[in-house]
Amino acid sequence: MKTSYIKQFRTDDEVIDFFMVKAISIKTGSNKKQFLDLMLADSSGDITAKKWDVMDTELPNLNDIKEGDLVKIKANVTEWNGMKQLRVTKIRKASPSDEVDFTDFIKAAPEKAEDMFNYIMGKAQSIKDEDLKKLTLAILDNNKEKLMYYPAATKNHHAEFAGLLYHVKRMLMMAERVCQVYTNLNVDLVMTGVIIHDIEKLTEIEANEMGISSGYSFEGQMLGHLVQGVKVIDRLAGELGINKEKTIMLEHMLISHHYEPEFGSPKKPLFPEAEILHYLDIIDARMYDMFEVLEATEEGEFSDKVWTLDNRKIYKAKF
Ligand SMILES: [Fe+2]
Ligand SMILES: [Fe+2]
Repeated sequence: MKTSYIKQFRTDDEVIDFFMVKAISIKTGSNKKQFLDLMLADSSGDITAKKWDVMDTELPNLNDIKEGDLVKIKANVTEWNGMKQLRVTKIRKASPSDEVDFTDFIKAAPEKAEDMFNYIMGKAQSIKDEDLKKLTLAILDNNKEKLMYYPAATKNHHAEFAGLLYHVKRMLMMAERVCQVYTNLNVDLVMTGVIIHDIEKLTEIEANEMGISSGYSFEGQMLGHLVQGVKVIDRLAGELGINKEKTIMLEHMLISHHYEPEFGSPKKPLFPEAEILHYLDIIDARMYDMFEVLEATEEGEFSDKVWTLDNRKIYKAKF
């Protein structure tokens, strides 16, 4: 039975519990000794773990442990470079007699995938521009199966079961409100952009049906979801007979949504709907990361350093 959760770990805690292995490898340190490098997870989050000084005699057992396996470990919570880490002293694969429940290890979006999908579908159906509506509905139909469980990232923001749906849903909710303030914005274009902007994460990222990602696909590493998205839109727009201007504007929204070349965008947004798409994306990612880390932070304290927030430590109010 599981008794503790990663999010509640405090430095110097001793931990004896079950975790899911997200990544595992045996490496050689600068002292020429082998060590086990792990990423462990449960439904509350994940944590890096190391088992130092691995002996050759331990290798057969360790090599038997694969990503997605449940393991029982004995470890101490340490801190390295402002981040918590586990120093493992014992590790073994869980067996059926351990009676651990898989749901304790799967991090999931807080809403039901079906409800989120229906919400997004409803918004797509309310798009007035016939071309944009056709295209958006086609994309949702073609990808429904994977959308129901896919995470939006390999780690960090929305790296959870149905995380991509949750990301898109919250961006749509914001988009509607932003369009009520900036009434010059073309609502149809903004809504379409939000629904399609990350759709090729479904092929960029590899993930199993529990929403757990093992990393990037070949195409994902070589092209990334921005360029992969342009390919999909180009093909679909051709099939659906959508005019060149609309097609190119959508493709531009896709390639510019990360804004900076170092984050994968070859162009900065060149019209308001593309600009706002970027900011909706950023707001949702930042809020996710901030509230996520605050869940594990005591009131009146600063969090661990958050890599995705430029190593800022986030403060949790006392009042
Ligand atoms: Fe993206
Ligand atoms: Fe996004």
